[in-house]
Parts: sequence; C-alpha cells; structure tokens
Amino acid sequence: MTTTASVVGGTGFTGGELLRLLDGHPEFAVVQATSRSEANKTVGGVHPNLRHMNLRFSDPEDLDSVDVLFACTPHGVSMERIDRFRDAAGTVVDLSADFRLPAAEYYDDHYDGHDRPELLAEAEYALPELNRENLPGADLVAAGGCNATATIVGLLPLFGHDILSGGERIVVDVKVGSSEGGAGGGAAASHAERSGVVRPYAPTGHRHEAEIEAYLGTSVSFTVHAVDMIRGASATCHVFPDDPVSKGDMWGAYRGQYEDEPFVRMASGGGGVYRYPEPKAVAGSNVAEVGFEVDPPNERLVVFSAIDNMMKGSAGQAVHAANVALGFEETTGLAATGFHPIGSP
Ligand SMILES: NC(=O)c1ccc[n+]([C@@H]2O[C@H](COP(=O)([O-])OP(=O)(O)OC[C@H]3O[C@@H](n4cnc5c(N)ncnc54)[C@H](OP(=O)(O)O)[C@@H]3O)[C@@H](O)[C@H]2O)c1
Repeated sequence: MTTTASVVGGTGFTGGELLRLLDGHPEFAVVQATSRSEANKTVGGVHPNLRHMNLRFSDPEDLDSVDVLFACTPHGVSMERIDRFRDAAGTVVDLSADFRLPAAEYYDDHYDGHDRPELLAEAEYALPELNRENLPGADLVAAGGCNATATIVGLLPLFGHDILSGGERIVVDVKVGSSEGGAGGGAAASHAERSGVVRPYAPTGHRHEAEIEAYLGTSVSFTVHAVDMIRGASATCHVFPDDPVSKGDMWGAYRGQYEDEPFVRMASGGGGVYRYPEPKAVAGSNVAEVGFEVDPPNERLVVFSAIDNMMKGSAGQAVHAANVALGFEETTGLAATGFHPIGSP
C-alpha cells in the first residue's frame, strides 16, 4: 500500500530536496506540494531537476489529507499551524526549529518564545543516530538543524564511551554552504556577495548552540562561517578532555558508536587527497563522515564531521526518520552515493 505525502513549503530548498527524495522513494507517493507565491505553477518550473513530476503547487491553506506531511517552512509557521497540519496528516515531520528543542525555556532563551510549549514533550528529535528507539510510531517528528546535526554526529561518540562526561571545554567551528540560508537568500546570499567568502556569521550565540547543548548535555563554544559552497556543512570541534585520550580510545568510541549505522562513515587520516571528512565527498548523499586526530602535546582532540545540509542536515534526515517512524527499512529511498569528482556542490 502506498503512503501518501505532502510537502508544505515545496518551493524552498529543503522542500525541493524532499520532493526529489520522495519522488524516488518506493513507499511514498507525493500528492501535494504547497506554495503561496507559486500556487498553480508546476513543480518543475521552480525545481528544474523535477520537471518530470506531474504536480502543481497548491495553496497551503487548502491541505489534502495524507499519511505524512513534511513541513519545510520558516521558523514560526509550524508552531502556528500545527493543529491544521495534524488534522491533515497522521504523521507530521517538521524541518524547522519549531519542535526541535525539548523544553520551552530553550525557546525563551534562544528564540522569541513558543506558541505551543505543551507539544514539545510530544515531539521526537529526528536524528536516528541519537533517538532511533523513540521514533517508531512517532506522529510529530522534528528534524535537527544542519550545523547542529554535523556537530552532534561528530561529538556523540565521545559521550558514553568514557572519553567525556560533560563539562569539558569544546570549541566548535562550522563552515557552511549558501543553501543553508534558504531560497529567499537576501543581500548576503547574492552571488556577487557570497562568492569566495569565508565569512563569520553569528560568531557567538548561534541558535544551534542550544540544540547541541540540549542533546549532548554539555555546553559548547560555537561559531559558524559562511563559505563558498552551495551544499555542505563541515564541523571542526576542538575538545579538551580532563584526562589523556589515546587514538585507540578514540577508534574504540567511534567504531562502537557507528559501526552499524548505515549513514555514518569514518574518514580519519587514511590515504589519498581526502583524508578527513569532506562535504564534497558526501554531497547529494545522506551520509555523514566523521574523523578525528589526537594532539597529545596539548591533550586536545580534533574531531571533524561533514554532511550535505540538504540531505543529512534536513531532507535526508527527515526521510530517514520518517522511514523509522513508519516502519520502512531505514535506508529506503536514501541509498544513493554522492558524485566524484564534482565541483563546488
Ligand atoms: N536550508 C537548509 O540547509 C536547512 C537545513 C535544516 C533545516 N532548515 C529549516 O527548514 C525550513 C525551510 O528551510 P529552506 O531553506 O527550505 O527555506 P526556504 O528555501 O526559504 O523555503 C521556505 C518555504 O516555505 C514557504 N513558506 C514561507 N512562509 C510560509 C507560510 N507562512 N506558510 C506556508 N508556507 C510558507 C515558502 O514558499 P511560499 O512563500 O511560496 O509559500 C517556501 O516554499 C526552515 O525552517 C529552515 O530553518 C533548513
């Protein structure tokens, strides 16, 4: 039996990526994609890679009944429309920040509060590597932020494997591509301004810091740079453990955490040009690469992770979580490998 799906916010970058993934997914049939600005226009007119789809955007006020609704809308829309979304669909997967954080205090401290704080306890964080056991049957799923996802996937093995216990100093530096800002962009995202940049933005107080702290249970010092990529997020984490850590300890932790994960692979100082996690190497795929080095003189651990923000950092993660929530094989519709060689993706 086919599972019906709709995409609210179908003209955006994550909406387009979701439509691409759902179009190739054997279990889902996309019956609706919404847009206010492009209502009645074809999906292919906005997303040229989807010109073959026989689908027109419709008004988000007029939602079809479906099995799964994916909300790809700016922060604030889902919390305002959540009752309508839940009336229309058995399962809602939200890609915005609206249901990601586990308690209202996080929204009071890092956003402009929350309209529906009572629902936060019902929402399940989508990242299967962190929350797989709570996803089956979940009817409100919140996909993680892309920078937070890259960071959490990189650091997660350090917790629970006797390397960090929480409270140690961690400095995180993320480089991210322009698609993170959405299709709307703005002046800073214009080609002329964005091309060639290594531009710090939100050097302190980035909202994803709260998400990392909520799910890893420790505070981090977090800065993001906008760099000249379209897709991709690359996190470098400088970690200062209380006690010396060997390379063997690190391999034990990372293998123990990830050896059975279908979408995490190690890239840690091997041969070739790409010795560590590289956004180019995962572009278009749902894979997160992780790797590390140990710096004994300074007793510093350097942890690297790389994802495609459109995939593991948003739409791919959402489909992965939906597969788990609905009982499909986890990798369904997500098995594609990225390209090599490729220019700036
Ligand atoms: N881009 C990323 O890398 C990334 C990664 C992780 C999470 N996210 C999150 O995912 C969400 C979508 O991001 P995006 O990059 O896809 O944004 P985007 O490209 O700006 O797209 C936003 C979409 O939402 C629609 N929309 C805007 N306001 C709406 C409203 N009030 N009601 C219904 N539809 C509305 C827009 O179409 P119309 O205006 O035509 O309706 C558009 O289709 C955001 O919350 C973002 O933070 C993005």
